[in-house]
Amino acid sequence: MSKYYKTQMLNEFILNQQNAFPYAKGDLTRLLYHLSLASKLVNREVNMAGLAEILGETGRTNIQGEDVKKLDEFANEQFIKIMSSSGMVCGLASEENNGIVTFDNSLSREGKYIVCLDPLDGSSNIDVNVSIGTIFSIYHRKTPIGSLPDESDILQPGIRQVAAGYIIYGSSTMLVYTTGLGVTGFTLDPSIGEFCLSHFQIQTPDSGLIYSVNEGNYNDFSPGVRKYIDYCKSNKDKKSLSGRYIGSLVSDFHRNLMKGGIYMYPPTAAQPSGKLRLLYECNPMAFLAEQAGGKAKDGQGNRIMEIVPQEIHQRVPFFTGSRDMVDKVEEFIRRETKTTNPG
Ligand code: AHG
Ligand code: MN
Ligand code: MN
Repeated sequence: MSKYYKTQMLNEFILNQQNAFPYAKGDLTRLLYHLSLASKLVNREVNMAGLAEILGETGRTNIQGEDVKKLDEFANEQFIKIMSSSGMVCGLASEENNGIVTFDNSLSREGKYIVCLDPLDGSSNIDVNVSIGTIFSIYHRKTPIGSLPDESDILQPGIRQVAAGYIIYGSSTMLVYTTGLGVTGFTLDPSIGEFCLSHFQIQTPDSGLIYSVNEGNYNDFSPGVRKYIDYCKSNKDKKSLSGRYIGSLVSDFHRNLMKGGIYMYPPTAAQPSGKLRLLYECNPMAFLAEQAGGKAKDGQGNRIMEIVPQEIHQRVPFFTGSRDMVDKVEEFIRRETKTTNPG
């Protein structure tokens, strides 16, 4: 018998954690349960992707001009449907919707949480059977309970996150989350349809041997970022670094979290704020990275979670992973900026 059967399932684990807060009513537990439920529906579809008619484009583009795949839309619908009936969530922001999504039922107005969501991350990998994921971030609402939520509920800095996590639909399906008490990972046992505790108190190494960046953009990166990539390749400190880039943030982040490494999505001339979105990609990953002992910065010395968002789909340059590696890339960027703009 494998060892996880002696441990706990997701709901049991969250309930135990909740007992650390004597005034908790179990709402967050219920919300995380509902998120895991939606993820199981998406997981079922992802596993069937080649067989079910779920591959390919919808023919539509989202607010960011990106092609919407059928599975993007399916995942978005599942999460919205389940969040709206949970009674815990008053509204959400999703990559696939222009503005805040509110629900047409009085139960939801009583919900004290707001959710930011990337329902399907790694869309370009859907059709080719490469790991993809879902990313979520949870806040307390700012508007009064009972009222209709608005953008002020969404536009909160990452340091206010109550919980965050991702589901990775990979060689196995995992849910990794934090409520600020460390990072825990659960693996879906398909035979019983439950997420079972498999990774307790995940800590990421202070340094690692992996760098992850889309090197196709190398010529468009700033001199500091280019020099850091050169340094990674140069084997200077007698460590051989490996370049690993899947193109699904969830998968690249998860691998580096477990093994140690750095993930970068730097700015380019065409995309001066990089590509990744602050609210539903960077903040949740930043919360997890920090809880695991790593870092998440914007390359200019700013902590991702301290950035005050101005708009729902705001992008931000993203450097995350092992502490020493994030420090190092920022050192390169600082040095080159000084050389280019002395004084
Ligand atoms: P999404 O599929 O949710 O739009 O996100 C795609 C993101 C992220 O998952 C990935 O790390 C990055 O885009 C890859 O971008 P490039 O293809 O530009 O490297
Ligand atoms: Mn994404
Ligand atoms: Mn997406």
